[in-house]
Amino acid sequence: MAIKKYNRAVHLCFVWLVVSTALLQTSDGHSRKKRSLPQPCRNLVLYFHDVIYNGKNADNATSTLVGAPQGGNLTLLAGKDNHFGDLAVFDDPITVDNNFHSPPVGRAQGFYFYDMKNTFSSWLGFTFVLNSTDYKGTITFSGADPILTKHRDISVVGGTGDFLMTRGIATISTDAYEGDVYFRLCVNITLYECY
Ligand SMILES: *[C@@H]1O[C@H](CO)[C@@H](O)[C@H](O)[C@H]1NC(C)=O
Ligand SMILES: *[C@@H]1O[C@H](CO)[C@@H](O)[C@H](O)[C@H]1NC(C)=O
Ligand SMILES: *[C@@H]1O[C@H](CO)[C@@H](O)[C@H](O)[C@H]1NC(C)=O
Ligand SMILES: *[C@@H]1O[C@H](CO)[C@@H](O)[C@H](O)[C@H]1NC(C)=O
Repeated sequence: MAIKKYNRAVHLCFVWLVVSTALLQTSDGHSRKKRSLPQPCRNLVLYFHDVIYNGKNADNATSTLVGAPQGGNLTLLAGKDNHFGDLAVFDDPITVDNNFHSPPVGRAQGFYFYDMKNTFSSWLGFTFVLNSTDYKGTITFSGADPILTKHRDISVVGGTGDFLMTRGIATISTDAYEGDVYFRLCVNITLYECY
């Protein structure tokens, strides 16, 4: 009888310990075990080229500012404060090397807008539409792009075709920059989910 009671007490103690440990762990995010990142399943490095429309280069331009509200002098605030508020839509050629004249393997299509007044910073949302012998499919990216930082990570949020339902990280760096005329981004894509 006494032994049974003792066993029961030990058992209850044990249950209490397990429950309280579990509660402690969930109440404090830091003590939660981090899942380890899988090995990358694919890496590719591509470049895209943005030729900004300046009012005279319609044939050559691949991106353009959109949205100038009536009464708001677009160039005034934007020009003064790191292009704040400017929204550009682009359809840029993608190449496998950093040469603007290399045959494109696809188009980078999407938009960026400048989202900070006190520094040069933007937000990117775009899709690589790839249609070459090497790659067929799309990869979609989104994220903050603090332009003045050398390497910026943005999210790879999905894909189709060769990149069906992929996810990962893309490290972006500015490979060339010619004022408000032209820039080239290097996109180093590391995928952690491939099918
Ligand atoms: C188009 O823009 C690119 C990048 O600025 C430049 O290298 C090229 O010479 C331009 N082509 C024409 C026809 O203006
Ligand atoms: C808009 O800003 C530009 C550049 O400062 C200036 O030249 C122009 O007169 C302004 N236009 C209006 C309507 O305020
Ligand atoms: C990809 O290229 C092929 C061959 O040029 C063309 O038939 C096909 O329509 C293209 N697909 C897309 C999605 O652009
Ligand atoms: C791309 O990223 C991978 C992994 O971080 C790195 O090993 C490789 O050197 C990078 N390539 C370029 C061209 O930056």
